[in-house]
Amino acid sequence: MRYHSRPIAGPLAGEVVVPGDKSLSHRAVLFSAMAEGTSALTGVLDSADVRSTIEAVRALGARVETASVGGGLDIGVAGWGASGPRVPVAAIDCGNSGTTARLLMGVLAGWSVEATLTGDASLSRRPMARVTGPLERMGAAFEMAEGDRLPVTVRGGALAPIDYELPVASAQVKTAVLLAGMRASGRTTVREPAASRDHTERLLPLFGVPVGANAVERTAWVDGPVVPRAARFDVPGDPSSAAFLVAAAVIVPESEVVLLRVALNPTRIGFLRVLERMGADITVDLEATHPEPVGTLRVRSGPTLRGTTVRPDEVPSLIDEVPVLAIVACMAEGTTRFDGVAELRVKESDRLEALADGVRALGGRVRSGEDWLEVEGPVRLAGGDVDSLGDHRLAMAYAVAGLAASAPVSIDRFEAVDVSYPTFTEHLAALGAGGALR
Ligand code: S3P
Repeated sequence: MRYHSRPIAGPLAGEVVVPGDKSLSHRAVLFSAMAEGTSALTGVLDSADVRSTIEAVRALGARVETASVGGGLDIGVAGWGASGPRVPVAAIDCGNSGTTARLLMGVLAGWSVEATLTGDASLSRRPMARVTGPLERMGAAFEMAEGDRLPVTVRGGALAPIDYELPVASAQVKTAVLLAGMRASGRTTVREPAASRDHTERLLPLFGVPVGANAVERTAWVDGPVVPRAARFDVPGDPSSAAFLVAAAVIVPESEVVLLRVALNPTRIGFLRVLERMGADITVDLEATHPEPVGTLRVRSGPTLRGTTVRPDEVPSLIDEVPVLAIVACMAEGTTRFDGVAELRVKESDRLEALADGVRALGGRVRSGEDWLEVEGPVRLAGGDVDSLGDHRLAMAYAVAGLAASAPVSIDRFEAVDVSYPTFTEHLAALGAGGALR
């Protein structure tokens, strides 16, 4: 499916409730499945990735009832608790979802079950040894396809706790090790080179599992064995989805857009800090803080934007927002440089290379290296044809580019947006954009 993003004549204006946060939705469903009792989740993201997690926990014995409410899902999950997951009758298809595959490995590592995890072509190219490595050290066994990729067969068993230093900051790896640690006797500790999203640390206590954390040393730990208890949780809106609408409002003149009930976890909103540095006009109203900060974003198209440098230590807090920030950088005066972004190469596509190619194809001035990206502005993008490569975040970043280009941007394989933000084009249209799906 193609999406034609047209240059917009007037401003973007209006209010949007962005869909539930993807990272929190995965975690809420998984922790509920692991828990004793029936959890009640509301505002869960209804997208392909989260559906993969829901189907996975069903295959492992959790009973899940879903109801569509206001664009999201209300879910009841009766977990397997202390009796553990059952052996699935077939391979578990994780689709496009790295979070599903990697977190499941941690969930399964400590139970004597055997399960095979598969994924689509993109997920089957992504590295899994970063998760299986520490879990093997704890006592789980894995059989992997050539190059440490999916399909992966997990053989769980009795685990020993570890003290593990992550070579790269990754919330997926950190979470997998902590979830496995819940089945080991003693303290399992993870240390990160930079702070990644801390949703697991915030959410597990809601499920009755205390998690220790030291922000200065960037450590988190859990004392096992411990069985989670059912909980209630209302999933706030996804800041990574909001980022596309924020960026659109920043670059389309005279815009004023309000985004409601957005998760504002500091480990997720690096993109807001970068946009503010670039001169964007964004007001943040914090409305709740526990277990996740939530609030309203009000974005007005800015005065002149200027380039900035994004440091490696900031990257984990905006890792999924680099594509759309690169589009905004095209409109900013001077150089915007992203340092320490090699992780982009192992996302749903090689986002570093694909993004540089895509921005260039649209008339942007961009250079890239092994772990950096530089965008030179200001440039009025020319429009043209681009391929999302099946990567949802590239597809949406190019759609934002089309709003401010001098000719339409036509994006191939646009259906990829269903992975994280199925109502994206609807929301853009509600704000006044005139693109069309073909
Ligand atoms: C996620 C963590 C990040 C992020 C992904 C979701 C999570 O990946 O890019 O979209 O929910 O834990 P890494 O942990 O591999 O950096």
